Amino acid sequence: MIPIARAGHKVNVGGISAHFHESAAALLQGGRLAAAAEEERFSRLKHDPRLPVRAFRFCLRQGGIGPQELTALGYYESPVEKLSRQLWAGLPGGPGELGDSDFAWLDPAAPERAIREGLGHEGPILTFDHHRSHAASAFYFSGFEEAAVLTVDGVGEWATTVYWRAGASGLEPFERVEFPHSLGLLYSTLTSYLGFEVNDGEYKVMGLAPYGAPRYLAEVRRLVASLERGQLRLDLRYFDFLRGRRMFSPALCDLFGAPPRARGGELLPFHADLARSLQQVLEEVLLEKVRYLHAQTGSEDLCLAGGVALNCVANGRIRREGPFRRLFVQPAAGDSGGALGAAVLAHLATTGSRSLREPLRHTGWGPEWSAEEIAPLLAAAGLPFLDFRGREAELLEAVVDRLAAGQVVGWFHGRMEIGPRALGARSLLADPRDPGMRERLNAQVKKRESFRPFAPSVLESEAAAHFALDHPSPFMLETCAVRSPLDLPAITHVDGSARPQTVDPEVAPRYAALLAAFQRRTGCPILVNTSFNVAGEPIVATPTDALLSLGTSGIDALVLEDFLLDRASIPAGWAAMLPVWLARQRSPFARREGAIERDLYTFV
Ligand SMILES: [Fe+2]
Repeated sequence: MIPIARAGHKVNVGGISAHFHESAAALLQGGRLAAAAEEERFSRLKHDPRLPVRAFRFCLRQGGIGPQELTALGYYESPVEKLSRQLWAGLPGGPGELGDSDFAWLDPAAPERAIREGLGHEGPILTFDHHRSHAASAFYFSGFEEAAVLTVDGVGEWATTVYWRAGASGLEPFERVEFPHSLGLLYSTLTSYLGFEVNDGEYKVMGLAPYGAPRYLAEVRRLVASLERGQLRLDLRYFDFLRGRRMFSPALCDLFGAPPRARGGELLPFHADLARSLQQVLEEVLLEKVRYLHAQTGSEDLCLAGGVALNCVANGRIRREGPFRRLFVQPAAGDSGGALGAAVLAHLATTGSRSLREPLRHTGWGPEWSAEEIAPLLAAAGLPFLDFRGREAELLEAVVDRLAAGQVVGWFHGRMEIGPRALGARSLLADPRDPGMRERLNAQVKKRESFRPFAPSVLESEAAAHFALDHPSPFMLETCAVRSPLDLPAITHVDGSARPQTVDPEVAPRYAALLAAFQRRTGCPILVNTSFNVAGEPIVATPTDALLSLGTSGIDALVLEDFLLDRASIPAGWAAMLPVWLARQRSPFARREGAIERDLYTFV
């Protein structure tokens, strides 16, 4: 493609993923990531698949530009190819529970039209294959000069798994597995059979697996055959996503000798055993595939992306048992990360450059609110709070007081994360040594299944003393064994594993300082870090979202930048007044910025 940017011109390039699940927008400025966010955080609709109008506007505002100043926009998949697969599958909306249902998408020109009309972008729109967008989102943010790349998901247009060589000459695919044969769809199908929601419950299956025994390996292996040259085949007799509303066929129920678990139904040992068997087969197949990839490329470094790359247990095994020396997993490995990849590819095509300027060191590319913006919100809410502006050390000591006393603290600081993990910007924190904390967090705060584990944050310099981890793990994307001298029941899974986030003081200074302060007080450089949301809701984005959570869940204290609120000092009945208060305070963000609706309410 001929570069279209003028030499010396500051190039602003956007990326969009949309119309499947987890839509998102991203912005690169001069080859550096400037902003990225999922639409769900603004719309408050979990896994929002719609055109990311709010996220896109946020990106432009963050970059200080209007839509006319975008040099180009990258779109994360080919509408024509996607539609051809959907038509082949015989359903206008795609495969059963997974697909869009809007007939408008029968028109492959619809995404471009929506971008023109919905986002106001009049410049070039460059379209890239779904898996190429995934691959770019991993490789170009990895910092590797060359690497092998594996992209694995449910389905893109046609591809479900693609093997890549990546280097100065770009991304070169050399083998691919096509729909309907898909590791992602295998996992999603059994997720559905186990009574969890597709595209949401896969984490729950992974978390359930260690409670079971691999008693159904033979049966699960009948569902998927791993073949030569990186290929695999599903036995389609057991699947129904090509025709029906369900993912699985009656033959699958016969194979396991049990009906599907109803949503919210009792979890039996059978369900845990099946989850364990599925997880083990996935790990075995993935290990085989990365060995094939290594043999073909000879590369020392591996990049992973696509929804299956969020399986952190499999990632841990790939790291430990696989042939690669280094591993980079795109933290927004699902389809929201496609926006990042599409933006990068559009930047490279537009400028003729071959790489990005900076590897990804954190995921804080969303919006932030200063203490000066939050202060009038708190004043208007009429809630008692402590003001630590200019006194960070005292704030951290006050937070440690509460954590050491067994409280759950909502921690709102800096720019919101992109990707499914909260990494210290929109997190709920607690003491990992507390034996009752896991149950309390699940039942009272997160309001979710009791078996689900929590992950720890640990100071990077202390990680090796508590976990079988010999490298930084900043994105919480792989599990490892806990080998701490401390008893850490809240973050240690039933199989003795954990999914740590290592915190580098240079990347996250205040969060690292909090961990250090907790260590000084307690001897423990580790905190429970779970995403700041309750079941069924996206992670909080705004101070108002956080205040709502304080009012409606079991959080004990809330840090909003330099302010600290204690639930105990909030008047009884305040939570019931929240809807009234919100309705009174709500005003469009446009009042301040003139361009974007945002859930920060100005009080003038
Ligand atoms: Fe994908």
